[in-house]
Amino acid sequence: MFPKKKENNMESMGALRRTHDCNTLGLDNLNQEVVLMGWVLRRRDHGGVIFIDLRDRYGITQVVFNPEINPDVHEKAHQLRSEWVLAIKGKVEQRPGDMANTKLKTGDIEVLVSELTILNTSKTPPFPLDEISEISDNLRLQYRYLDLRRPEIANNLIMRHKAVQTVRNYLTESDFLEIETPMLTRSTPEGARDYLVPSRVNAGKFYALPQSPQLFKQMLMIAGMERYFQVVKCFRDEDLRADRQPEFTQIDMELSFVGEDDIIGISEGMVKAVFKATRDIDLEPPFRRMKYDEAVARYGTDRPDTRFGLELTDLTETLRGCGFKVFNSIIEKGGVVKAINAKGCGTFSRKDLDDLTNFAGTFGAKGMAWIKIKEGEWQSPITKFFNEDELAAMGKALDAEPGDLILFGADDASTVNQVLAELRLELARRLDLLDENTFDFLWITDFPLVEYDADRKRYSSVHHPFTAPFEEHLDMLESDPGKVKSRAYDLVLNGNEIGGGSIRIHQPDIQARVLKVLGIDEEEAEDKFGFLLNALEFGARPHGGIAFGVDRLLMILTGSSSIRDVIAFPKTQKATCPLTEAPASVARKQLTELHLRPDWKEEKKE
Ligand code: AMO
Ligand code: AMP
Repeated sequence: MFPKKKENNMESMGALRRTHDCNTLGLDNLNQEVVLMGWVLRRRDHGGVIFIDLRDRYGITQVVFNPEINPDVHEKAHQLRSEWVLAIKGKVEQRPGDMANTKLKTGDIEVLVSELTILNTSKTPPFPLDEISEISDNLRLQYRYLDLRRPEIANNLIMRHKAVQTVRNYLTESDFLEIETPMLTRSTPEGARDYLVPSRVNAGKFYALPQSPQLFKQMLMIAGMERYFQVVKCFRDEDLRADRQPEFTQIDMELSFVGEDDIIGISEGMVKAVFKATRDIDLEPPFRRMKYDEAVARYGTDRPDTRFGLELTDLTETLRGCGFKVFNSIIEKGGVVKAINAKGCGTFSRKDLDDLTNFAGTFGAKGMAWIKIKEGEWQSPITKFFNEDELAAMGKALDAEPGDLILFGADDASTVNQVLAELRLELARRLDLLDENTFDFLWITDFPLVEYDADRKRYSSVHHPFTAPFEEHLDMLESDPGKVKSRAYDLVLNGNEIGGGSIRIHQPDIQARVLKVLGIDEEEAEDKFGFLLNALEFGARPHGGIAFGVDRLLMILTGSSSIRDVIAFPKTQKATCPLTEAPASVARKQLTELHLRPDWKEEKKE
């Protein structure tokens, strides 16, 4: 940190040389002559004496202009405004007894200014920088360099630096090599759309920005690098959400001659080191593991927030043939009925229930039947459709007690799971069950290898096409691909997928069979990633890896609600940058050089 720098490294500005940062001075420095540089955060005029809160990246120090002691300097201080840049020289003094500010690290002292240099003036900032106020995201991003002066956001970047630095040290000590892979490359099949870059020297040809370094890291294993890692930008053109950006950062790694437990062990050690370095939290790996099928059954999702209960209960068999037509016809058509017992929520009002029903509707629910369990009676518009036995069986399955509220979802399995998974989170928000300082890690394993994509009428990979199937499932690969489980694992933290990886296929014949199941014929395979298939033919060693989402991990570590708050220059929901106004139009000449035809609107104008 700054004060520890060697004397001759101190910044100097004209006649004044900065001696300390704005977060250092205390009672130990009384009567010292110091030089501080920073911005005017606040100016207070107290009956002649002017107080300025001077701020830099490190903190705040109060500096004082006293008309009786230094009238010239005091006169000059009158003009100072927010965000002007100052260099001041002065003497460290103890603040009078009751004026100490215990909230500030430098709150015991102030600096009595004897010399003032105004290094720069500033326009009035478009939003206040000294208070937390509701500012539109667009405005914040347009003036991101001002937004970043605010300690809340600046501290996130500082923590990000610490986290990444810790990862680099940890992996380097574990014998990993950091190796860069190309940004101008071919499409990588991670399932999103590519960002394309037209080639000028190869007319009509395009590079794709990498969705991940997947293929290169596998080739680095084939090249014998043993242990690779990279802190790397990845690009995916997909619909943005709070936890998704079009360009984001991965901690990407790949290892040779390893199994699941090796990669999980190294990942846990890395995450433990990061939590210690950034938050001084001692995690205690190994983290729990849960199979995909169990996670979906109990939580409706493969990235459950396990900080709270409110698990799902499957009532399909209990209610098969029941008197409630809505449910029964869904079950007969092969659908499912599942429910959540919201313990103690029997007091929810009609409005609460209507709100929850609307909420469920936004995720595709066609209704949200409910039952309030009261002493001696069950209050609900649907109880009349069930007989005594059915009600009793439901009550038993759900462990229903007076005071509980049961919420139902009935539809095809994937709709019900999605709706109830979201309802579960919404209930947790309403019941205030999401404790920011609980970090509940969970490995999800045994994912299906493929899932059926009804729109495209073919199977697609649940992870990516290079994920190894369990060897004992190989004989089902062609006959019943949906049943084949894979050697993939995701790390979930408080309901966020923060990492994912797998043991890879290293045998060319198995890779060819998997691609066939995915409906990728030899010609297409050769065209898209023939280079990897080729490489597998040259003594490819068994290998596997994982990639962590740096932005998501930092979002959780900093308690932010969006990954935007941990990225210096993020994009908006519409993938734009209000600061640089990217993406932007380009000159016609540039398009022609890239062998692109100008868009139709321009053509029409001419
Ligand atoms: P995957 O696609 O699961 O795996 O990505 C790894 C991790 O990256 C983060 N992530 C994102 N973060 C922000 N914005 C996005 N748009 C975004 N997309 C993904 C997530 C995710 O867990 N090549 C494989 C890894 C492997 O198999 O080794 C891959 O990229 O936290
Ligand atoms: P209806 O007979 O359609 O008025 O529905 C009776 C009750 O069942 C209402 O409370 C609906 O919200 C609920 N309901 C209807 N369809 C579903 C569904 N697919 N899943 C859960 N509840 C439903």
